[in-house]
Amino acid sequence: MGNKHYYIMTFGCQMNEHDSEIMAGMLERMGYSETEKRAEADIIIINTCSIRENADKRFFGSLGQLKRLRMSSRDLIVAVCGCMMQQQHIIDAIKTKYGWVDLVFGTHNIHMLPEMINRVVNERQKLIDVWDEHRGVVEGLPSKRKYDFKAFVNITYGCNNFCTYCIVPYTRGRERSRRPEDILREISGLAESGVKEVTLLGQNVNSYGIADGFDVDFADLIYAVNEIDGIERIRFMTSHPKDLSDKLIMAYRDCEKLAKHIHLPVQAGSSRILKRMNRRYTREDYLLLIEKLRNATGGNIAVTTDIIVGFPGESEEDFQETLSLLETVKYDSAFTFLYSVRKGTPAAEYEDQISEEIKHERFNRMREILDSGMAENNKAYEGRIEKVLVEGSSKKNSRTLTGRTESMKIVNFYGNREMIGKIVDVRITEGKTYSLVGEVL
Ligand code: SAH
Ligand code: SF4
Ligand code: F3S
Repeated sequence: MGNKHYYIMTFGCQMNEHDSEIMAGMLERMGYSETEKRAEADIIIINTCSIRENADKRFFGSLGQLKRLRMSSRDLIVAVCGCMMQQQHIIDAIKTKYGWVDLVFGTHNIHMLPEMINRVVNERQKLIDVWDEHRGVVEGLPSKRKYDFKAFVNITYGCNNFCTYCIVPYTRGRERSRRPEDILREISGLAESGVKEVTLLGQNVNSYGIADGFDVDFADLIYAVNEIDGIERIRFMTSHPKDLSDKLIMAYRDCEKLAKHIHLPVQAGSSRILKRMNRRYTREDYLLLIEKLRNATGGNIAVTTDIIVGFPGESEEDFQETLSLLETVKYDSAFTFLYSVRKGTPAAEYEDQISEEIKHERFNRMREILDSGMAENNKAYEGRIEKVLVEGSSKKNSRTLTGRTESMKIVNFYGNREMIGKIVDVRITEGKTYSLVGEVL
């Protein structure tokens, strides 16, 4: 009798990627091993994201494809979980249209996966178990990490901000912080096992510890991680401008391991729209933060962002303010999104929705400005020597390695595979719009 196999499909952000790593860790403890072939799997899990409408559509597409496989095998278990499952209308759709799904669970009870699988296997009946709210932070779960040399570490779960367009506070619940000693213990363990880069994860890392009344804040945590031997690079995601403290800005100056990069989502350049989005900062507040960050680092910090176009009520003048902000900041990279209506959020009810045509037209104008700023920034890297964490070889040609600079830029260069997982010096020979080319020194 062969080993049992699992196959996990993950949509969405790093939170979901990390949840999938934890599920993989639990499955391996149960004796399952990973397969890359769906047809070979004994359990298939789809970890879903609900951030925009196309995420929902992609999920139902993938689920539909599994029906034949499920029907042809009495033993295959199909499980669905993640953010979409925290919404009643999705559960209803699964019950009525995809009744053959074996197991449905949510974002708050992934730690129960082994028990849930055992119930489905032993009782051979369907199980839907979605919790409305988290019942405390669970520590000590195993995790099967994708990389040996870099790792995600959750520091907070959930979100309290209720930006009016966003589904996350409804799918992930209220913000909870892990205790600093648990976080530091985990990172020390990772360092001992060879991890060089950690990314501290939360929807808004800047409010770490506040809702839980800790006397350690996010900047304190960075200073503490900076002291851990073996860790060479610290990153974090995501940072909300309204809670970015001067103390954190100083950490960029003081902590040599803190990568000189910040992902600071602006969402829009117009204060009027920011107010309607409930972001709780103005255009001026945001630009002041960028100025402070650049001053504290002598200009040596890469800034990336998220932007939404076509939020309800966005006028051409509002949009022009976004464009002018992009020109002022000159981002190193940006995730750009068309506003997508999310059922249950306040903005879904706003009457002044923008047409798809205008959204697309604005989106294209915005991408042009962003791309030319990125090309200009990347050109300025030519001739520079950068420390690059080598992540792997590019798919097409295995002699071509790929890695990331401290500023998060992708660099491609020739090298040998033994460099994977190490930090090497690379001279940049060409700056393209979306990546750099270099040679190892
Ligand atoms: N907590 C992070 C964001 C997580 S969601 C933060 O506040 O920065 C990632 C990005 O998806 C958001 O920054 C936003 O730009 C985008 N997004 C969220 N909801 C959206 C929606 N309804 N339509 C379009 N983009 C959306
Ligand atoms: Fe969503 Fe806003 Fe929370 Fe980010 S801060 S997850 S955009 S509600
Ligand atoms: Fe998506 Fe949930 Fe992340 S909605 S973006 S997977 S928190």
